[in-house]
Amino acid sequence: MADDAIEVLLEEGRTFPPPDEFKQSGNLNDPGVWEKADKDPEGFWAEQAQQLDWFKPWDKVLEWDCPWAKWFIGGKLNVSYNCLDRHVKTARKNKAAIIWEGEPGDERVLTYRDVWREVNKFANVLKGLGVQKGDRVALYLGMVPELLIAMHACNRIGAVHSVVFGGFSAESLSDRINDASAKVLVTGDGGYRRGTIIPLKKNADEAVESSPSIEHVVVVRRVGSESDATMKEGRDHWWHELMADAPLWCEPEQMDSEDMLFSLYTSGTTGKPKGIVHTTAGYLLGVYLANKWVFDMKEDDVFWCAADIGWVTGHTHIVYGPMANGVTQVMYEGSPDWPDKDRLWRMVEKYGVTIFHTAPTAIRTFMRWGTEFPAAHDLSSLRLLGSVGEPINPEAWMWYHEHIGHQNCPIMDTWWQTETGHPLITPFPGITTLKPASATKPFPGVEADIVDEQGNSVPLGGGGYLVLKRPWPAMLRTVFNDPDRYVETYWSRFPGMYFAGDGAKRDKDGYFWLLGRVDDVMNVSGHRISTMEVESALVDHQAVAEAAVIGKQHEVKGQGICAFVSLITGVDNTPELVDELRAHVAKKIGAIARPDELYYAAELPKTRSGKIMRRLLRDIADGKALGDTTTLADPTVVAKLKEQYEDE
Ligand code: PRX
Repeated sequence: MADDAIEVLLEEGRTFPPPDEFKQSGNLNDPGVWEKADKDPEGFWAEQAQQLDWFKPWDKVLEWDCPWAKWFIGGKLNVSYNCLDRHVKTARKNKAAIIWEGEPGDERVLTYRDVWREVNKFANVLKGLGVQKGDRVALYLGMVPELLIAMHACNRIGAVHSVVFGGFSAESLSDRINDASAKVLVTGDGGYRRGTIIPLKKNADEAVESSPSIEHVVVVRRVGSESDATMKEGRDHWWHELMADAPLWCEPEQMDSEDMLFSLYTSGTTGKPKGIVHTTAGYLLGVYLANKWVFDMKEDDVFWCAADIGWVTGHTHIVYGPMANGVTQVMYEGSPDWPDKDRLWRMVEKYGVTIFHTAPTAIRTFMRWGTEFPAAHDLSSLRLLGSVGEPINPEAWMWYHEHIGHQNCPIMDTWWQTETGHPLITPFPGITTLKPASATKPFPGVEADIVDEQGNSVPLGGGGYLVLKRPWPAMLRTVFNDPDRYVETYWSRFPGMYFAGDGAKRDKDGYFWLLGRVDDVMNVSGHRISTMEVESALVDHQAVAEAAVIGKQHEVKGQGICAFVSLITGVDNTPELVDELRAHVAKKIGAIARPDELYYAAELPKTRSGKIMRRLLRDIADGKALGDTTTLADPTVVAKLKEQYEDE
């Protein structure tokens, strides 16, 4: 984010104190919690952990050998037991857990007991396919209840799930399966998106061709005769056929607190996505508490997190946190503008949604579509709103507040990451006075700071790098199969501190203002994509000699992808090739990584040691005056490029 934008943010003077009803009855309304947690963080987390169901209590709260953390050592528990069995034993048994709507308009309501039964059965199916504790299961599905069921079935038997977003390509899926050596893949015959069918099974087949660890593929029937999916004898099985004979009860595995719960791949600064490892007790505690406190989940709430389960937000705010709290949720399969741009608001009205959570990029899209779509529906059931995934600009915050929240829903702008497990810088509706576009302050027990290049804390009013100085239960434990990368990525920049990769400022009241990534990771519509991933996809094309990719400010997406490529000698730089290269990236990675802009460059600006100077490309793309070019091997390269960019 540009410096002038930072100043605008910090000048934001509007404040929104917590409404009285939240002050009185918010799940967290004791401002003394922070002081208590800071005095004795371990005691604080241990006290909260009593709210989970344990088969055996822990012997020791924390073992911290920086950067290696172990929480609740010696404890035994099961996540699906905490999210299902404990509700099924109470009056919540027949309470709606999931109110699901398919994009074409079909509906399903699953009670807690329904989900519990399906999870037990699918856990037995997985066992029948030879899946054992510790084995990895890859899940590549659209937003259907079976995805959530499969995730809980994995954790019930101690298998580790690795969910791959349904919009990723066959190659991205295969890379993730191979990194995890997954034994079983669960996919679908297709999924609906904006009226067309996503060819999940076709992609899965292509992926499995280069993923030898996969022994079985389970296929959920979703689109039926509209699918061109074919089944491979012996390897592929229909979900409904396996489920027809599955026994109804599966004893939940008594998992160790530190047993791995799941791995989820996310982009880093190097090309290869990394498998972020989360463990059983710490993650469950973090997501239980964050959903309870930040989203104030109550017995009669109808919660809707409109994220995809393929990202961490869907893990934490659909599959695990809300279910650990026993709340009713809405889940939607498709696109927000299908069949019309009021789809989400129609659903809020229809199901009486009380808490709604989405990303700034979606809010900016709604703004562009116009207020008539939300205005056409009664949204008075809403009492609380959430925002996640990228910095929200004050205009989008205010629009959300006025047109969706009708000025009486506090907005929880939650900062966190795949690695952190749950929101770590976030407001609480019964306590925090909000400032539009500030994620406000750290979660109790979490020590966040802003430091300079040397790792020294920056006084209030200043900016720098966001770090976390103390372990927290839901923190990632490592990078799957790559502990060195864990140390190097997160704990080496500032020894003894977790480096988040984000820039931030703090105002005089100690409020945090997130300013975006400081590394080569782009945030495109709230999705993390590394510049290197896109560059490797481009140079994979036979016409491309070199590529440099940057994130460019984008009105709706936050950042758009802007690529500069130089071609192999003899190849013509035609407009058709631009389209072909953009399509090539989409095929290699997934549509989310398709460059918005692509420019030909005779040469890319490099330092004398051969490093591409992305900073200069960013300046060109943002139309800024070029900064210092003295370290360039050939300063005329960049001048030519700028001229050419301005002409196009
Ligand atoms: O740059 C921050 C941004 O999203 C990154 C984490 O991405 P991911 O692991 O995909 O998780 C996204 C959902 C939790 C962060 O490093 N980010 C996330 N939330 C916010 C944010 N930036 C500003 N404000 C937020 N509320």
